[in-house]
Amino acid sequence: MTKTWRIVAVAVCLSLPAAGMADDENPDEAAAHVRHALMELMGWNITPLGEMSGGQQPFDADLAATRGQRLVALGGMIGDAFERDTSGTGVKTEALDAVWQNPDDFATKAQAMIDAATAYTAATGDGEPAAKVAFAKLGKACKSCHEEYKSE
Ligand code: HEC
Repeated sequence: MTKTWRIVAVAVCLSLPAAGMADDENPDEAAAHVRHALMELMGWNITPLGEMSGGQQPFDADLAATRGQRLVALGGMIGDAFERDTSGTGVKTEALDAVWQNPDDFATKAQAMIDAATAYTAATGDGEPAAKVAFAKLGKACKSCHEEYKSE
C-alpha cells in the first residue's frame, strides 16, 4: 500500500462510527433511538409466538425456538440500551423517568424476561401445550416491565 492509500484507508475507518448516526442526533436522541429499535425487534420476534399461542397460526417448534433464542439475546441488551439516563432531556420517548430512579428493579425485570424467554425456548421442545404455558409467562414478563416503566 502506498502512503497515500494508507492515509485514505485510515480516514475512511475513522469516519465510520459517525456514519451510523444521523446528523441531527445528539447522544440522548441516539440512546432513545437504540432502545426503541431494540424493543421494536423484541415486538417483531414475539409476534408469531403470540399468534401460535392464540391459534392464529400453526405451532412450529423450530420457528418458536429460533424466536425464543433471539428474545433471550435481545433481553440481554436491555441493560446496556437503557444505561443512558435521558430523563429531563426532552427526547421523545415512552420510557418513564422511573427507569433511572429504580435501576435495580428495572434490571430485575429485564432478567425476569430473559429467564422467561429461556424457559419458553426450552418448552418449545416439549410440544404445543408446554409452549403455550411458557408463552403466557413470557408475555407477562414483558407486560410487568411496561406497566411500571413505559408510558401509554
Ligand atoms: C425491563 C423492562 C422491559 C422489558 C422486560 C420489556 N420492555 Fe418493552 N419497553 C420497555 C420500555 C421502557 C419501553 C419504552 C422505550 C422507549 O420509548 O424508549 C418499551 C417499549 C416497547 C415497545 C414499543 C416500541 C416503541 O417504542 O414503539 C415494544 C413493541 C416492546 N417494548 C416490546 C417488548 C416485548 C415483546 C417484551 C418482552 C419480550 C418487552 N418489550 C420487554 C421496557 C421493557
